[in-house]
Formats: sequence, C-alpha cells, structure tokens
Amino acid sequence: MKKILILTGLLILIAMGIIIFQFLQMEQTKPDNIMEEKIIIGFSQIGAESAWRNRNSESIKNAATSAGVQLLFKDAEQKQENQIQALRSFIAYQVDVIAFVPIVETGWDNILREARAAGIPVLITDRKIKTSEEKLYAGFIGTDSEEEGRNAAKFLLKKFSKADYPDKSKKNPIRIVEIRGTEGSSPAEGRTAGFRQGLEGHQDFKIIYSTSGDFLRSKGYEIMSKYLDKNKKIDVIYSHNDGMTLGIIDAIHEHGLLPGKDIVIVTIDAEQAAIDALKKGEINCVLECNPNTGPDIMSLSKKLANGESIPRFQHVHEEVFTEYDDLSSIAPRGY
Ligand code: AHR
Repeated sequence: MKKILILTGLLILIAMGIIIFQFLQMEQTKPDNIMEEKIIIGFSQIGAESAWRNRNSESIKNAATSAGVQLLFKDAEQKQENQIQALRSFIAYQVDVIAFVPIVETGWDNILREARAAGIPVLITDRKIKTSEEKLYAGFIGTDSEEEGRNAAKFLLKKFSKADYPDKSKKNPIRIVEIRGTEGSSPAEGRTAGFRQGLEGHQDFKIIYSTSGDFLRSKGYEIMSKYLDKNKKIDVIYSHNDGMTLGIIDAIHEHGLLPGKDIVIVTIDAEQAAIDALKKGEINCVLECNPNTGPDIMSLSKKLANGESIPRFQHVHEEVFTEYDDLSSIAPRGY
C-alpha cells in the first residue's frame, strides 16, 4: 500500500512538472503583441495629395498591423485645424503615443503643450516643425529635404558643365523654373533652401520663376501651361514632387516641346511613373524621397511608450537616380 502511495505521489509530481514546463514554453513562444499590452498610437496624416502620400499611409498602416500596434489613423484633408483637432482627440483618448505629419512648420506649440501636460510623447514624421521650446516633441523621423535640394543642384552642375554648355555665363545663364511644394511646409522650404545653397556662387544659373504648385499634379499642369503660353525660353524645370512633374510633362508635350530634351527636368519622390519617365528620357534626374517609414515609426513609438528616449532627428535613406546611371537596376517602386 505504502509503495502504491509513493508511486502515485511520484506520478502526480511528474505530471505537474510536465504541465509547468509546457506552460513556461508557451509563455516564451507567445508573439510580442500577446506578451506585451498592445500600445495605442494616434496618427494624424495630412491627406492624399500625391501617390507618395498614399504609399506613406499604406506603409504606416501595414507596419502597425505587423507590429501588433493599435493605430488610430486620421486623415486631415490638407487642413492644419483638422490635424489639431485630431491631436486633441488622441489626448482625450489617452493614447500611448501621438505621431503626426505636420502639414506646415509652425502653429503647433499650444497643442504640443496639451500633449505634454497629458504625459503623451509626440513623434514628428516626414515634415519638420519649428517650436518655441525644443522639448515639445520627442523626435523626428523622415526625409532630409535640404539635402534633396542640394542634390538637385549638384545634378545640374554636372549636366551643364562648361564642356557641354560653353556659352553659359552670367549674361547668358541657364534659365531655371522652380515649382515648389505646399507653402510653409518643411519639404518646400528645405528643397528651396538646399537648391539655392547648391547653386551658390554659380552665377551662370538663374532661377527666372518660382511658384508653389501645392504638391498637386493638377497645379503643376496648370502653372506650366500658363507659363509656356507666354514664354518657352526655359532650360530647366526643378519640381518639388513627381505629381506636379507629371502634370508639367503633359503641359510641355501640349506646347510641342520635348521634356527631358528641350527642357531638363529634375524631380523629387521617385514614384514608379517618374522612374518610367526617367527611363524614357522625359526626366533627367529623380531624387528619392522615401515614403516607407512605417516600420521605423512603429519601433520608435514602442520605445517612447516604454519611456525610452529616441534620437532627436533620424533621416531615412534616399537615393539619387539620373540619366547617367544604369537605369535597368532600379528596383520596382511599388507605388
Ligand atoms: O512631405 C513629403 C512630400 O509630400 C512629398 O514629396 C510629396 O509628394 C508629398 O505630397
């Protein structure tokens, strides 16, 4: 009898050991999103003004799903007041992190103070802001617009080198038309400033006209149609995004000119349609602006939600594609 009791006791102990072992194993193999409590990110996107923007929103939504993050995504339809309202609703909801693409650089101090008072960290993405206090947001991840502008100038200095264009001079300069992005937005400001920095000291290049096309294809077309009706003497068009460039190319064709040949075209973004136009010789230089920031936004947000600090500024990797490159090796853009 005693032996039976000892044996039964041993069997019970072994069975309990097996159950505990299996439980511990289950805990270790649980995916991150089940082990941790799901974090909530309130995200304010500016709208859907371009193919680039749509790809950017898609990247953020996909990355949130893969990272097991609950994403409250709001589209501001190109209005700063809608973004401020969205941010206020995220504060009321007590999200873990607020992330947003600021449509313009200024006007955010008050709402950022509200977020700080509620203890919610803020991540800025894609477009930069100017604040009266540096610490009103935790960090920024996105593009380096000034560098994009400098790279545009660098390409032109190569394209119009003295050997190929011996006639250019201060008196007979290369005439540049610039179509800028949304007024007051950091990419428009950065691309404008960087371009001028890159051309500094080169008086044989002259910006003869510069205006905003609001990053819209329709405006790129409209502006260039009107301009070419009156004046066809342009050597270069520097356009702040591909959407506007595609509209500009339509207008150039309608005026009996050849884009990429009669007028050198430099554009920013690198959506598939622009890469195709570069391959066809209708665009001469495409500066990449990388929209695939979703995964970085998720990992930075997780750090913020855990109370960790993040780099103040993080710029994403961007390429430059020109007519001088081997264009067959450019990977499909996916948008
Ligand atoms: O802020 C990034 C810019 O905004 C992109 O270059 C443009 O296409 C977009 O709409």
